[in-house]
Amino acid sequence: MAQKTVLITGCSSGIGMALAVKMAGDEQKRFRVYATMRNLDKKDHLVEAAGRTIGNTMEIMQLDVCNEDSIKMCISNIPDRRIDILVNNAGVGLIGPIECQTIDEMQNVMDTNFFGLVRLLKEVLPDMKKRRSGHIVIISSVMGIQGILFNDVYAASKFAVEGFCESLAIQALKFKLHLSLIEPGPVVTEFERKVFEDGMKMDLSAADKETADMFVNIYLKNYKQIFQTLGQSAEDIAEHTVKIILAENPPFRHQTNTLYTPITTLKYADPNGDLPIETFYKLVFQHDKIFSASLNFIKLQGEEQNDIKN
Ligand SMILES: NC(=O)c1ccc[n+]([C@@H]2O[C@H](COP(=O)([O-])OP(=O)(O)OC[C@H]3O[C@@H](n4cnc5c(N)ncnc54)[C@H](OP(=O)(O)O)[C@@H]3O)[C@@H](O)[C@H]2O)c1
Repeated sequence: MAQKTVLITGCSSGIGMALAVKMAGDEQKRFRVYATMRNLDKKDHLVEAAGRTIGNTMEIMQLDVCNEDSIKMCISNIPDRRIDILVNNAGVGLIGPIECQTIDEMQNVMDTNFFGLVRLLKEVLPDMKKRRSGHIVIISSVMGIQGILFNDVYAASKFAVEGFCESLAIQALKFKLHLSLIEPGPVVTEFERKVFEDGMKMDLSAADKETADMFVNIYLKNYKQIFQTLGQSAEDIAEHTVKIILAENPPFRHQTNTLYTPITTLKYADPNGDLPIETFYKLVFQHDKIFSASLNFIKLQGEEQNDIKN
């Protein structure tokens, strides 16, 4: 297999960093990785984790998905502008009642998570079409399939990504290009920490008491437990992503977390759409204790599955 060039966005931490390190460290040297980040001052962790691959199979470059000039500059510095595999990973989260969020904060989520992908593809897609080869891999989320309480705008941004990609995939097929949406559930990264801290600091004065209580005493109270129970690591997601990249016929959608699959399945089980909404409602508002117990049960199942695998 000839060496493939891979451009990954958002490599200063989390999934992007884990994926860049894994691909650049490939024993068969199948990939040349352009690991990009918006702020090069944050490159130290990646440099340390990447070790001797830097300058060999990895190059670190500046790229801000919210800035067209930065995207153009980065891609024009890649030999022949050739990107065989584009991994759109950069993303930001936002939680809380919408009445306590500003439109600017919401627009930043859409601008990064959705328009960031659009900007990148406007630059990369024409070259891929000309060559009639390329794989576009998008780190989406299970929240691109199903909304979750107090994640309204974040879920909307990932739904936008999924709708955009579903439309584009049909055209891509005509040009023999592959498109794959990677859909993780909770992943323990900086993202989880930043989102939780922002939630804890949020000014809730614009919300009524019932909504503010719901956010603090139900959502934030269970947040850590959900990540502890269902959370995967950035390395887990990197491993899944590499498998999809190496697949002969990469799937359009790939969920990384089997513990989460029963939850997303509800969506497809009822065309009216009521089943997942009612199930979440009951779990959150009527069965707070059962919710915690269910999480423990799910965790136990996951541990048993791991024991069997090992
Ligand atoms: N963690 C989860 O629970 C989870 C679950 C499902 C899906 N995801 C998705 O996974 C992806 C990666 O998230 P993560 O969990 O690895 O979080 P992370 O550690 O916070 O990484 C996010 C990366 O995106 C970068 N970024 C943000 N805005 C950017 C911009 N305008 N231009 C370029 N880079 C930008 C960040 O850079 P800075 O360091 O400069 O901020 C950081 O490198 C995101 O798309 C996220 O939505 C995460």
